[in-house]
Amino acid sequence: MGRLDGKAALVTGASRGIGRAIAVELAREGAKVAVNYQSSDAKAQAVVDEISKLGGTAILAKANLADRESARAMVKNVAEELGGLDILVNNAGITRDRSLRKMTDEQWEEVIGTNLNGYFYTTSAAIPIMTEGNFGRIVNISSMNGQIGAFGQANYSASKGGIIAFTKTAALELAPTGITVNTVSPGFTETDMFAEVPEKVQESIKKRIPMGRFGQPAEIAKAVSFLITDGDYITGQQINVNGGAYM
Ligand SMILES: NC(=O)c1ccc[n+]([C@@H]2O[C@H](COP(=O)([O-])OP(=O)(O)OC[C@H]3O[C@@H](n4cnc5c(N)ncnc54)[C@H](OP(=O)(O)O)[C@@H]3O)[C@@H](O)[C@H]2O)c1
Repeated sequence: MGRLDGKAALVTGASRGIGRAIAVELAREGAKVAVNYQSSDAKAQAVVDEISKLGGTAILAKANLADRESARAMVKNVAEELGGLDILVNNAGITRDRSLRKMTDEQWEEVIGTNLNGYFYTTSAAIPIMTEGNFGRIVNISSMNGQIGAFGQANYSASKGGIIAFTKTAALELAPTGITVNTVSPGFTETDMFAEVPEKVQESIKKRIPMGRFGQPAEIAKAVSFLITDGDYITGQQINVNGGAYM
């Protein structure tokens, strides 16, 4: 018996990287999982297949989260297909790095649109469904760089700092309804997103991590899963999973 048997979960940005690891981890605990993504059809299908092989249930949930109608319609469809929605993990995120002096409006808006607006669209669509069931677990993926800032990431760090503040207000407002809302902030984690960082920069970053290595997606997924399976009295909190890179 899994600890999430019978629960329905939506993980955004689950075709790759951290989202993929979260989707698989929740499925291992018994949850039925909707795998959201934007364009990687084959990769998302591979996640669904992996979960099916584990004996779990998973469905595809393609939608561009920066588009409010498609994000909200996706949440509604997922709840219909899975017979409710108990767990929402807002994870999808993008970077469009450039120094603040050179950053274009498009680069700013694209990152805020996906990383911050997208979290609002899915969460606001999930709240009435979760409230009806008197239960909900929402975990928002932020970032270490949302707390300390990062060169070339004014857009990204603003979106990630915003997620932490958003989480606290959502937790406050939803506490009486049985819905908890928390943030997990990864440090540097080995995914496609981090692969975009030049190797030389990666090496200098590694030297600044007390544990001396980058994180793995599965290590972020464990923290998310803990909040969902064992975090009944935890809400409005922010958990860093970063090898000690920011304390
Ligand atoms: N990797 C790190 O070092 C690190 C550190 C701190 C925080 N984080 C955060 O962790 C989360 C996951 O990062 P990652 O490294 O796993 O990223 P990743 O490997 O680049 O994967 C990004 C995922 O988000 C999806 N996505 C992007 N834009 C979307 C949109 N508009 N609508 C729907 N889905 C969209 C992608 O779908 P497609 O495959 O279809 O494009 C993909 O599934 C992000 O929020 C990121 O900011 C990562």
